[in-house]
Amino acid sequence: MIKGKFITLEGGEGSGKSTCIKYIKAWLESQNIEYIITREPGGTPLAEEIRNMILSHREEKIHDETELLLMFAARTQHIKEKIKPAIDAGKWVISDRFVDSSYVYQGAARGGDLKKIDQLAEWVLQGCKPDKTLLFDVPVDIGLSRVEKRAQSDRLDDEPVVFHQMVRDAFLAREKTSNHYCLIDASQPIENVNLAVKQELEKLKGLS
Ligand SMILES: Nc1ncnc2c1ncn2[C@@H]1O[C@H](COP(=O)(O)OP(=O)(O)OP(=O)(O)O)[C@@H](O)[C@H]1O
Ligand SMILES: [Mg+2]
Repeated sequence: MIKGKFITLEGGEGSGKSTCIKYIKAWLESQNIEYIITREPGGTPLAEEIRNMILSHREEKIHDETELLLMFAARTQHIKEKIKPAIDAGKWVISDRFVDSSYVYQGAARGGDLKKIDQLAEWVLQGCKPDKTLLFDVPVDIGLSRVEKRAQSDRLDDEPVVFHQMVRDAFLAREKTSNHYCLIDASQPIENVNLAVKQELEKLKGLS
């Protein structure tokens, strides 16, 4: 059985990841590719419960280490229960966020120890790394103005602008040093974003 491709979407708040997944779904169907679409934190019933713990507003302070470990607890469940079985069955896996978000949010933006994140990633991923990470990059003010209209914001959405700027800078820095990234200018109109994504999908499928 040929393994399925593993594609992750990364980027800051309002960069258009969830919007673009609708296009990716349509493209996969047009190509008769079997797939699953999933997200982090979350993706399985237990991991979605952990997502709620991480993202909901609460009185008790959530320590940075707690946030990091909960992210990786959800991730290990997600990989073992959902991502790896699908890839092994030949399905393409599309995940709205994955481990790169931990490096950027819990690492760069929260000031977490990147070596510890490396160790957690090594332990939890067990080689389950994305074939391609699509980085949706948009200036912070544009991204935040897009999500302002949302009825509800979560604990990470509500971080100050300087936090979101660190997130953007850290994603761009990772993109420069990693070869599994594809940088997408997400400030463009949605049709242009989709076209850039389509080109990457075709490359992954070996169409171009
Ligand atoms: N290229 C674009 N141009 C203009 N508006 C866009 C574009 N892409 C997405 N949007 C709009 O911006 C809003 C946020 O997009 P979306 O929810 O896809 O972002 P996201 O990256 O998933 O954000 P989050 O990280 O908070 O989940 C939506 O209302 C969407 O319709
Ligand atoms: Mg989203």
